[in-house]
Amino acid sequence: MINESFKSHILALQAGALLDAETYTWLIDTARVDSDLRDWLCDQASALRDQVYGRRVFFRGLIEFSNFCANDCYYCGIRAGNTAVNRYRLSDGDILASCQTGYELGYRTFVLQSGEDPFYTDDKMIEIITAIRTTYPDCAITLSLGEKDKASYQRFFDAGANRYLLRHESATPEHYAMLHPAELDLINRKRCLYDLKEIGFQTGAGFMVGPPGQTSTHLANDLIFLRELQPHMVGIGPFMPASNTPFAHEKPGTVEDTLVMVALTRLTLPQALIPATTALGSLDHKGREKGLKAGANVVMPNLTPTTNRKDYSLYDGKICTGDEAAECRVCIENRIRSVGFDIDLSRGDHATYNP
Ligand code: 5AD
Ligand code: FES
Repeated sequence: MINESFKSHILALQAGALLDAETYTWLIDTARVDSDLRDWLCDQASALRDQVYGRRVFFRGLIEFSNFCANDCYYCGIRAGNTAVNRYRLSDGDILASCQTGYELGYRTFVLQSGEDPFYTDDKMIEIITAIRTTYPDCAITLSLGEKDKASYQRFFDAGANRYLLRHESATPEHYAMLHPAELDLINRKRCLYDLKEIGFQTGAGFMVGPPGQTSTHLANDLIFLRELQPHMVGIGPFMPASNTPFAHEKPGTVEDTLVMVALTRLTLPQALIPATTALGSLDHKGREKGLKAGANVVMPNLTPTTNRKDYSLYDGKICTGDEAAECRVCIENRIRSVGFDIDLSRGDHATYNP
């Protein structure tokens, strides 16, 4: 009975039905405890990804160029209040050298990520974006710099940036407030996301699975918000405790719950680009492979210089920060092939994007 009901809701979702929060909540609660239904759900999501994008996995070269941050998100290892962090900023030369390394590896998307670092004024960012745009006219530039005014986003876009990642973190105001200090609020976060879309950025939202205080109803609200926003990309990873943060001693999220949310996101937004996240790979040594099998289709190998990587520590136990880091390309390609996927080194734009 439960099985039939579960499957009929999922098939309806796949056919375009708009599920309400109560139904999403029930689906999440059911799949997180029933491994057969969860496997079936992941297979459905994977088949849908195959229909839209095939078996291709898109690559993004990630450059974590500054770990300074003005914010104090309770979960984040590089929050301003964490005085144990060894802070760094890459020079413009180092950023461009990281792009060059990525370009030679065949990557055609660069993701520039940092904390909310006031050192990088809009003018400074535009200088960096312009240099990358001029040197690599065939590459997509993705930014992940946090909340800004619409005018700043517009200037970044005009300088040649194409995409912007800004996870919404939680679509439920009370839960958002449990994860962030009062200076940050969900209304402004949503405003940023709608501004980015309106400007023409391929826009990424997303959330963690399993941070303190999160219920399945909150996760259902996240799916409904995604349906409303219609982002091009959705980043979903397990919450992982970070030392020297208010949540240092909290339990991590689970692989199972994360896979359920990846699969339900694929079914809700068939055309989304969804990464198999580093956090998922850090929680489980086969986490990224499992993410792909649950409907994900993007990986983001790290191009940050190896000397700095260990300092961009959003959470403890992050993979690809040690001696093995130079081998990420080989490692990740073997992992992708091992579960029957193909490497795609093109820009990998969203299915609806026309240049
Ligand atoms: N565990 C997992 N993910 C985290 N992020 C930040 N801190 C953590 C953590 N402790 C995620 C947030 C952020 C993204 C860059 O990394 O969702 O948006
Ligand atoms: Fe970095 Fe495997 S992807 S070591």
